[in-house]
Amino acid sequence: MRILITGGSGFLGSHLSEKLVKEGHDTICLDNFYTGNRQNVQHLLDYPNFELVRHDVTFPYYAEVDRIYNLACPASPVHYQANPVQTTKTSVHGAINMLGLAKRTGARILQASTSEVYGDPEVHPQTEDYWGRVNPIGIRACYDEGKRCAETLFFDYHRQNNVEIRVARIFNTYGPRMQPNDGRVVSNFIVQALNGQNITIYGDGNQTRSFCFVDDLIEGLVRFMELEENFPGPINIGNPCEFTILELAESIIRLTNSKSKVVFKALPQDDPMQRKPDIGLAQSKLGWEPKIQLEEGLTKSIEFFSKLDKISG
Ligand SMILES: NC(=O)c1ccc[n+]([C@@H]2O[C@H](COP(=O)([O-])OP(=O)(O)OC[C@H]3O[C@@H](n4cnc5c(N)ncnc54)[C@H](O)[C@@H]3O)[C@@H](O)[C@H]2O)c1
Repeated sequence: MRILITGGSGFLGSHLSEKLVKEGHDTICLDNFYTGNRQNVQHLLDYPNFELVRHDVTFPYYAEVDRIYNLACPASPVHYQANPVQTTKTSVHGAINMLGLAKRTGARILQASTSEVYGDPEVHPQTEDYWGRVNPIGIRACYDEGKRCAETLFFDYHRQNNVEIRVARIFNTYGPRMQPNDGRVVSNFIVQALNGQNITIYGDGNQTRSFCFVDDLIEGLVRFMELEENFPGPINIGNPCEFTILELAESIIRLTNSKSKVVFKALPQDDPMQRKPDIGLAQSKLGWEPKIQLEEGLTKSIEFFSKLDKISG
């Protein structure tokens, strides 16, 4: 198949590119390199079925393709808040451009949506029928509302133009090729632990998160894309094992044999207290559930970060 991946040289996109290239698909990896980089896909450049294209999804792109994975969007607060107007444009104009391409080519299109569409949820764990609790004017809104609007566009193109859509709501995912300095909790803690710096917890550390290892996540996305039943979703994809942020910090300190101490700082605005997917739908529709336990995934991630020449926290 001919497959387009937007945001293909980012953290998730590079793992997805790798899987699809190795399966023999003609893969176009499209990226403006805002948070992604060439190094993430360097090892794929010699494959004849891999093509790397510099392009911004806020502008139309034309190619004959059978599948589109729409991943382009900065995912960490540090990056999506650096230029919030561009973040909303990337989600909304990017969705319009890629849906237009799907409509024209008849391609099936998957949207990398997010658990952030649930905001600070009153329902726990979050099921797909929960509408969410998002602050539309807060500093996270450029990302949360951008992704919500993208979901709306996906469902309207589906209803209005019969575009075959797949909306995946991705929960916290971690693993090799996360950026060391992007403020995401797992990479932050690993970098701090490896550098022997204090590990910074925002709030009292009792807020919980569930962490999915990247290989599990990618398997879930591909299964959803290739699901024979024409089921648009949304489907939650994530790991339901819940840990407090404090437990995460303690595991990382132990696995890195670090002497780092934990320090506590004020919680940022609109930071959700709990986040855990209900993955019943993914289990029944896709026969999918995560296989890699936190400790195993953290060990692989620590190995990646410890090989980086210089890591900055
Ligand atoms: N990693 C997670 O835990 C997580 C959770 C929920 C949702 N997601 C979603 O998955 C997708 C990938 O996330 P990630 O963790 O790999 O983040 P990432 O920042 O590593 O990857 C995003 C990629 O999109 C590219 N990009 C950004 N704006 C673009 C634009 N205008 N045009 C073209 N390319 C652009 C970046 O350069 C980068 O390569 C995102 O859409 C994100 O919202 C990720």
